[in-house]
Amino acid sequence: MALASLWREPERRESLSFGALEFHDVFRIYRSGPAETVALRGLDLRIEPREFVAVFGPSGSGKSTMLQLAAGLDEPSAGDVRVFGRSLAHLDERELATFRARQVGMVFQGGNLWPGLSARENVALVLRLGGRRKVGDAAERALDAFDLRGRGRTRAGALSGGEQQRVAIAAAAARQAPLVLADEPTAELDEHNERTVLEALARLRAEFESTVVVVTHSSRVADAVDRVIELRDGRAS
Ligand SMILES: Nc1ncnc2c1ncn2[C@@H]1O[C@H](COP(=O)(O)OP(=O)(O)O)[C@@H](O)[C@H]1O
Ligand SMILES: [Mg+2]
Repeated sequence: MALASLWREPERRESLSFGALEFHDVFRIYRSGPAETVALRGLDLRIEPREFVAVFGPSGSGKSTMLQLAAGLDEPSAGDVRVFGRSLAHLDERELATFRARQVGMVFQGGNLWPGLSARENVALVLRLGGRRKVGDAAERALDAFDLRGRGRTRAGALSGGEQQRVAIAAAAARQAPLVLADEPTAELDEHNERTVLEALARLRAEFESTVVVVTHSSRVADAVDRVIELRDGRAS
């Protein structure tokens, strides 16, 4: 898959007519027995390369479903999800796994680290899963870049909530994930830690050229981004 290399060629990138993330009339209907929940109903949106976007919306409006689809962790019931111009529907299981490991950085509420591994081992493992053979001191450098110097040997489970989120962000930066998806990453944090995580997400965009989509309820996050997309009943307004 050549998305990442394409991403590093600015001249070519500028002539591209596609967004970083596009949803075209996307439906996601969860079925269990006779019960149906329509989580997304005809969602259309387009997020440009290097945009920093917040997704707002009441609980149950489809925000997490939208991120799962963008990450290729779930499939739409109808409609098309495109990442850097490529429809995820055309990828088989192996290609999807490669897509997730190389193109997408994910940051979730409550952290998404291996709690028994150190901060450094977490970043190194993400790099290896992304196909990097020689990790070297890339993990250490990424941790330093996000103010985690000296925390590399600490077990992830023993880090503070804000530090855990920054480790996940450092991992996305270390492998230059072009698309970073964060689902309520500051929901459990105090104001100080929320600010450090927000700054880290902003730096991902500014210094690592990532497109960053953050689902949030926080007005502080809304103030920090380029644009807010509102989801309501599975549609953007
Ligand atoms: N795996 C699932 N099975 C059944 N229903 C689901 C599942 N995931 C989400 N839903 C339902 O889909 C709707 C949207 O959920 P979600 O995307 O989690 O919204 P949000 O993140 O905005 O709170 C909700 O009604 C939720 O109950
Ligand atoms: Mg959610």
